[in-house]
Amino acid sequence: MSIDQLPEIAKAMVAQGKGIIAIDESNATIKKRFDTVGVENTEENRRAYREMLLTTPGLGEHISGAILYDETLRQKTKAGVPFTKIMMDNGILPGIKVDKGTVALAGFPGEVVTDGLDGLRERLNEYAGLGAKFAKWRAVININIEDGMPSDTCIEANAHALARYAALCQEAGIVPMVEPEVIMEGEHDIDDCFVVTEKVLRALFNALYQHNVMLEGTILKASMVIPGKDCPDQASVEDVADYTVQCLKSAVPAALPGIVFLSGGQSDDDATAHLNEMNKLENLPWPLSFSYGRAMQSAALKIWGQDIVNNVAKAQETVYARARDNGLAAMGEWK
Ligand code: 13P
Repeated sequence: MSIDQLPEIAKAMVAQGKGIIAIDESNATIKKRFDTVGVENTEENRRAYREMLLTTPGLGEHISGAILYDETLRQKTKAGVPFTKIMMDNGILPGIKVDKGTVALAGFPGEVVTDGLDGLRERLNEYAGLGAKFAKWRAVININIEDGMPSDTCIEANAHALARYAALCQEAGIVPMVEPEVIMEGEHDIDDCFVVTEKVLRALFNALYQHNVMLEGTILKASMVIPGKDCPDQASVEDVADYTVQCLKSAVPAALPGIVFLSGGQSDDDATAHLNEMNKLENLPWPLSFSYGRAMQSAALKIWGQDIVNNVAKAQETVYARARDNGLAAMGEWK
């Protein structure tokens, strides 16, 4: 794929009423998820779980793409069909998580920077050959106002890494999804989250500009502007929608083809309600959709975990229902 085709892929990722399912948990993260339902973390169980998700009947009606982990991109169904083929046949674009997770930012206790730039050019070329159309890189920004977090250094280091990653993706003919996740853990209020999120987004788009990244072929994966989990003052659905859209409008160029949200530990209902409320607002410069991990999978994982052989169809009904509800929310039509 050449760079000229990136805008087309980016637009398809945020097509009307469609969003993304994030199933790119590393083997360490999926172990945590499997532990909650008592499933052993073996390669075969990971494969079977991802097959259940990706072969959900009708998934492509509401899902434009799925983010996979390295192992999953190479896996096949039990019948021997590559996952990437099943996906493309159902109109679902294969995506790949390419970052290597976070490490402590030296000199800044409590803050992290994302690893994975070494060898990334070669890995992206391989992923493109395996059928990946888009990629994901997640930066993590912690808020702790009392301790001066996030520091400017943390924001700059993460924005710089995201920009270098995005430029390498476009060189390889892959749409970069840039994800600066402002974490929900903490006591901070919604105003603190607004200030931090705006600063992070401004730094990110400045870095993308400095690195000659083509915005028309880039997708932002954003966190919502929301109070910390331990903040005594929780916000209404309307406030989360208003604050988030106002923050994005002030910091994200209109040339971007679309924005998708992570769920970040919100309940399934909250994640859907917040997205729906935002899409009820008028004059949005970009499509706003979803790229949920937990808020797409947790209900299905519970059902599948009870009987991984016989509960496949039942679990898939839940996956479909979550895709449909979030697809409706991406149009402001969820009730
Ligand atoms: P959650 O929706 O579970 O936050 O995961 C989305 C994701 O891909 C984070 O990188």
